[in-house]
Amino acid sequence: MKVSFAEFALPPAGAVVVGAWEDRVLTDAARRLDEETGGAVSRAVAASPRFHGKKNELIAIVGPAKLATSRIIVAGLGKPEALDARVLQDLGGALVAHLNTAGESEATVALDLGDAATAKLKPAEAAANLAFGARLRAYRFDKYRTTQKPEQKPSLTALTVASAAGGGAKEVYRALNAAAEAVAFTRDLVSEPANTIYPETLAAQAAALQELGLAVEVLDEARMRQLGMGAILSVGQGSARPPRMVVMQHNGGAAGSPPIAFIGKGVTFDTGGISIKPAAGMGEMKWDMAGAGVVIGLMRLLAARKARVNAVGVVGLVENMPSGTATRPGDIVRSLSGQTIEVLNTDAEGRLVLADALWYCQDRFKPQLMIDLATLTGAIVVALGHDHAGLFSNNDELAERLVAAGNAVGEKLWRLPLADSYDRAIDSDAADVKNIAGDRAAGSIIGAQFVQRFVNKVPWAHLDIAGVAWSKKDAPTVPKGATAFGVRLLDRFVAEHYEKG
Ligand code: BES
Ligand code: MN
Ligand code: ZN
Repeated sequence: MKVSFAEFALPPAGAVVVGAWEDRVLTDAARRLDEETGGAVSRAVAASPRFHGKKNELIAIVGPAKLATSRIIVAGLGKPEALDARVLQDLGGALVAHLNTAGESEATVALDLGDAATAKLKPAEAAANLAFGARLRAYRFDKYRTTQKPEQKPSLTALTVASAAGGGAKEVYRALNAAAEAVAFTRDLVSEPANTIYPETLAAQAAALQELGLAVEVLDEARMRQLGMGAILSVGQGSARPPRMVVMQHNGGAAGSPPIAFIGKGVTFDTGGISIKPAAGMGEMKWDMAGAGVVIGLMRLLAARKARVNAVGVVGLVENMPSGTATRPGDIVRSLSGQTIEVLNTDAEGRLVLADALWYCQDRFKPQLMIDLATLTGAIVVALGHDHAGLFSNNDELAERLVAAGNAVGEKLWRLPLADSYDRAIDSDAADVKNIAGDRAAGSIIGAQFVQRFVNKVPWAHLDIAGVAWSKKDAPTVPKGATAFGVRLLDRFVAEHYEKG
């Protein structure tokens, strides 16, 4: 889909989209179009008693008289005072979905927001955000479909956003487009099945980002063993695919200033190992590397937009398989930190990956903060469903900043507690720590407590994204499938707090 920006003008073909505020107040552009069509817009509104002009409401007028355009869409904008970047992103996404269903090939949005709304959002920002939402929704993962009928393919090939900013919106869009590309990149990585994305190939995808100026190191199995990464290695030892640890650095800040660090769980497939998972739904475990996918996409974005910050991304890549060489329940392994771990359930493997990745990161880079992302527990889905990711942190300011960034981009977080009383549940009789508590109580907190054992005094947050990394239904800017939840949130978090000064 080609996106462009222009001045207001009636398009010679395709769809034209105009807005209506809540309580059915037509924008100036809608009113002009109403006049040109002999009242088609106001008749359509009058004939649609359930259209109130609220956001996410649309009316389609197909084949309007007197015009060469194929259809007019009247889109609800909600209340002028509530209009913000997210409302426009959602509108862009909803339009793409609607126009693809209708089989439309091109569309022009006459984004005329008047003075009330432009006080909050400049025309260029409004136009760019609508286009951003459209691009996010237009994402598809179709590379393995060979028998799609034409009507199953997206029809919309060109979207023009006409506003008072004209072509000037392009400047604002450039940055948002970089974010959309990073999101699409992460969605691609997460959607790939485990026979194409495994530790070596995922590491190669990260290494290819050196083109953008990232410094990327790939630690192979021998190096990981030499360093003493016994926790992550114990997860990978049942697989024919050797593990990798990838370190990505973006140095856009002051030389020598401590980096902010992002750490991702990259289990390219999670069978559960010897503590094997049931067959039903196991295919979903191809996206158990979503945390790593988000970290890689975020690092790509920081490099692409030359963020003025020092940042490091560390991802632990491994496949969890049962075999004659796999870790057995009850095995005791030595982590990079020196702490020994009794592995009582080989399906609680993500925490072992994070243990070594976090320790390596904090030991080597002395970061000012660390944020890890992991599809860590099924229990977080029980607690929060698919609407919020779980947030755990040892630092209130960090937690508040993350929650605020998430709300701003529509990737919501809900904080859950950490406490010594939970931590006692993972004391082991035979080693320093055990990887499960022994009952199902507070499963996500227990996972976070385990991870915290590998974090020193540094401000740290853990995002359990098991419920949000993948979606079974379409949302305005997120088609079903891999969501890339976290890329936009953390980009916003970085831009807001770590690039000024
Ligand atoms: N990758 C899973 C968590 C998961 C479950 C992600 C469902 C997405 C959807 C993780 O490795 C796992 O298996 N966790 C176990 C932990 C348990 C054994 C303590 C779980 O949640 O059942
Ligand atoms: Mn598991
Ligand atoms: Zn897992």
